[in-house]
Amino acid sequence: MERRQFLLGLGATAVAATLPAWARESADEYFTGFRRGVKQHPWLGAYAGVTEDLEASAIRFQGRLPAGLAGTLYRNGPALFERAGVRYQHWFDGDGMVQAYTFADGKLSHRGRFVRTKKFLAESDKGGFIYPGFGSTVKSKVPITSADAINPANTNVIAHGGRLLAMWEGGSAHELDLKTLDTRGLVSWRDDFKGMPFSAHPKVEPDGTMWNFGAFDNHLALYKINRAGKLEKAEVLKVPNLAMNHDFVVSARHLIFVLPAMRINRAKLREGHSFIDSFEFPKGEAMRVLTVEKDDFTKQRWYELPPGFVFHFGNAWEEKSGQIRFDCVLSDPGADVMTQTMRQMMRGDVSRLNPGASRSAQVVIDPAAGTLRHTLADEEVEFPRVDPRVVTERNRQLFHTGALGNDRGFSLNAVLRYDLESGKTDSYRFPREYSLEEHIPVPRPGSTKEGDGWLVGCAYNEKTGKTEVNVFDALRLAAGPVATARLPYAIPIGFHGHFLAA
Ligand SMILES: [Fe+2]
Repeated sequence: MERRQFLLGLGATAVAATLPAWARESADEYFTGFRRGVKQHPWLGAYAGVTEDLEASAIRFQGRLPAGLAGTLYRNGPALFERAGVRYQHWFDGDGMVQAYTFADGKLSHRGRFVRTKKFLAESDKGGFIYPGFGSTVKSKVPITSADAINPANTNVIAHGGRLLAMWEGGSAHELDLKTLDTRGLVSWRDDFKGMPFSAHPKVEPDGTMWNFGAFDNHLALYKINRAGKLEKAEVLKVPNLAMNHDFVVSARHLIFVLPAMRINRAKLREGHSFIDSFEFPKGEAMRVLTVEKDDFTKQRWYELPPGFVFHFGNAWEEKSGQIRFDCVLSDPGADVMTQTMRQMMRGDVSRLNPGASRSAQVVIDPAAGTLRHTLADEEVEFPRVDPRVVTERNRQLFHTGALGNDRGFSLNAVLRYDLESGKTDSYRFPREYSLEEHIPVPRPGSTKEGDGWLVGCAYNEKTGKTEVNVFDALRLAAGPVATARLPYAIPIGFHGHFLAA
């Protein structure tokens, strides 16, 4: 029943594949706009995309690579943006390329491989885009038979249960080989959940238990997967007016969702508009906050946050009193960064890019009183991450990639650490030529103190047109990177990743 409803929901997208003439013109404009746009800024080189798999080895570090740091930083992000003279109109639509940065013997090696999705293989074969994306329209009459037909596998990657999973928001995870990054195929957790969305933001508890959700057409699929990678529980909840949900957070006893006020206008989808153009944001409507008990998904509570938008969460934990605390990154209602800024960026037009307004929020839910309150930090930040050892438990440290004193709209230029107990902020701002990806905390082997270890991540250097990998002492960010490796090429700026210790 639920599966059928999911496919019925997709019926609208099948119609979207038949497009009016303006769609083709629009796509061309994005191509020439990016190539010839007089307003194009050098940092947009990080969004030009690549067309081939990448490989480099024996890259030396400048500085001192910490002896205990050994393993692989996996990253995922959209990387192929153009085929046959047509450029995607939105960053979210690029085909996913998984990167593996391996730290071993004091050197770095890198491998980047496109996920061989059905979409990637079909479009490679055809020599052009044949499916519309989340925010792009393309001239195509290929019917979409399932979400996985358009799945670009471009949002996150995680090593779990001995497997490497590349994830998107709207379809199945893809399994890849941990070493070669070869694509092994779609992951099906259970026959009746085959093809259901498995979001790009699973949360893994210190004991290896992985929780995830998939949002589709007024429903949320919920998954509990054990440390061996076996499904323990999966159910589907009905959630009225659910158009999209990107991330969630998990405490000891609850799964927590923040649902911005959004609707999808299916008539617009049928007329050939992209998903993003078909979203509507009812003005003045609160964001809904849903808590679901892990042990009994039927036990749900609802709360509210003021009108706004959210992509990402760091961590959640519970007081002995039963209060639930979590953090997330809140921005203004309407998701302008998704609906407008990312498009301007993709066409090379940076003249209208506004600095973002996303801030870290600390949220406290009091289930006994039925209330919720929140506070906001000052800095513009995104990509919250915590030490993986404290997921679902009280965290003192909260890491972000952010924009400090930046006038470049979407480009991130700093790493930050909020010490939630002292209230102090530890940060490092990169020189002007750098644009950053999400940075990830990596525990020091053998240590037990939260945050003890490193913060690792990539930065695009617009002066050299190449990507660099940086290692920070996670509790001393202000001191700057302790080690830096320079890759021989640019890697398109991606979304999320995971560090697998050797
Ligand atoms: Fe995300």
